[in-house]
Amino acid sequence: MRARVRARAREREREMSEVRLYRGDARILLKTIKDKSQDLILTDPPYDVTTKDLRFKPLTNATKEMFVRNFKRVLKPSGNVVIFCGLRDKFTWHNLFKKYRFTLISEIIVVYPAGLKIKKRFLPAHESALHYVLSEDYYFNDEIMMPDVYNTKRPRGICRNYGYDYRTAPSLKMGVTPKPLGLVQKLVEVLSPVHGEVLDCFMGTGTTAEACVLTGRNFTGFEIDTELYKFAVERVKKAKNRMESGFSFG
Ligand SMILES: C[S@@+](CC[C@H](N)C(=O)[O-])C[C@H]1O[C@@H](n2cnc3c(N)ncnc32)[C@H](O)[C@@H]1O
Repeated sequence: MRARVRARAREREREMSEVRLYRGDARILLKTIKDKSQDLILTDPPYDVTTKDLRFKPLTNATKEMFVRNFKRVLKPSGNVVIFCGLRDKFTWHNLFKKYRFTLISEIIVVYPAGLKIKKRFLPAHESALHYVLSEDYYFNDEIMMPDVYNTKRPRGICRNYGYDYRTAPSLKMGVTPKPLGLVQKLVEVLSPVHGEVLDCFMGTGTTAEACVLTGRNFTGFEIDTELYKFAVERVKKAKNRMESGFSFG
């Protein structure tokens, strides 16, 4: 009986969540976000990987700095930032976060099943999610269980457990690398309160958006690519149909 009451309460919380998806350039759209309004910035910018597809061009260092500066502006003092990055851009991001007086709290290693084909280099089989905060009073829900390692014997099991799978978006080009929904959902739950504000400036297929629908957080997401934006909208609609949360897009 109690479980049913709790489930109903959770459902009501989710019904009130709002998802706002914007097609456009995050460099411009980020300026519309109010100061100190976000509980969590969970984002996955294009990596420093050479690509022929200009949509997935690496960000310049000046652009990266503009993002970090604005993350600091829009984040609540108790907020968290999680940024996915590969080896090549990890140190640039870290130096910028340090410059803007963020503190590094954790590094999450995401192991993936297929490396990128790059000549004269070892095949990368993992990437990082760096977790930063602005103050010691950052939000962190210790009650949510998050095992450190999901499958020590078979590291690739981590990927399977979390559903990290390029097939999430079969029609889309490879440059997108959808993130594991299970992992993103856990991060959202641990690092932001219910009804909190979550921002993803590079939403791709909309993994963070779906995680917010599933957990009753408000979400704002930007995506420059029309095809990916439409994919994310459909994904949110499907998740919303399951969860009956609020939804708007522009
Ligand atoms: C690594 S992918 C994100 C994948 C996403 N985490 C997911 O699970 O699907 C980076 C995304 O950023 C988008 N992007 C690149 N530059 C952008 C910009 N200036 N503004 C908004 N989106 C941008 C790309 O189109 C791409 O979809």
